[in-house]
Amino acid sequence: MTSRRSMLCGLAVAMVVPGGLAACSTTTTNPSTGGGTTGAGNTGGSTPGNAGAAGLAALADVPDGGGLIVESGGKPLVLTRTGDVVKAFGAACPHAGTTVSPPKGGIITCPNHGSQFGASDGSLKKGPSTKGLTEVPVKVSGDQVVMA
Ligand code: FES
Repeated sequence: MTSRRSMLCGLAVAMVVPGGLAACSTTTTNPSTGGGTTGAGNTGGSTPGNAGAAGLAALADVPDGGGLIVESGGKPLVLTRTGDVVKAFGAACPHAGTTVSPPKGGIITCPNHGSQFGASDGSLKKGPSTKGLTEVPVKVSGDQVVMA
């Protein structure tokens, strides 16, 4: 009696996040499936934003001539891109720790007090910061920007 329903629920669960599992709990045949194995190998379509543990961003999401703020290990990084060259710098401003803005026109600007840094090397262009941004090694792997 529930076979058609269970098939539909199973299909729906497969297409939706694991949180949808509760709606189909009347047909529990395998209680050991926890649904905690998502993440590493999504093949059903594009996965915007953060990829797995090592992926910082899709290369296509990093504007050429600009950049993007991402997070790695709980710390903000600013990604910069010029053609095929992607670099990353710690995005916490050395002055007082504010997360800098993505680069524009080759310059990374801190929105708090206006310090500016070069997008190609993180060097200090304008204070009040007295130091540049620290580069973090990244590389392009396939269509993803990952930690090097
Ligand atoms: S916190 Fe960035 S310039 Fe002050």
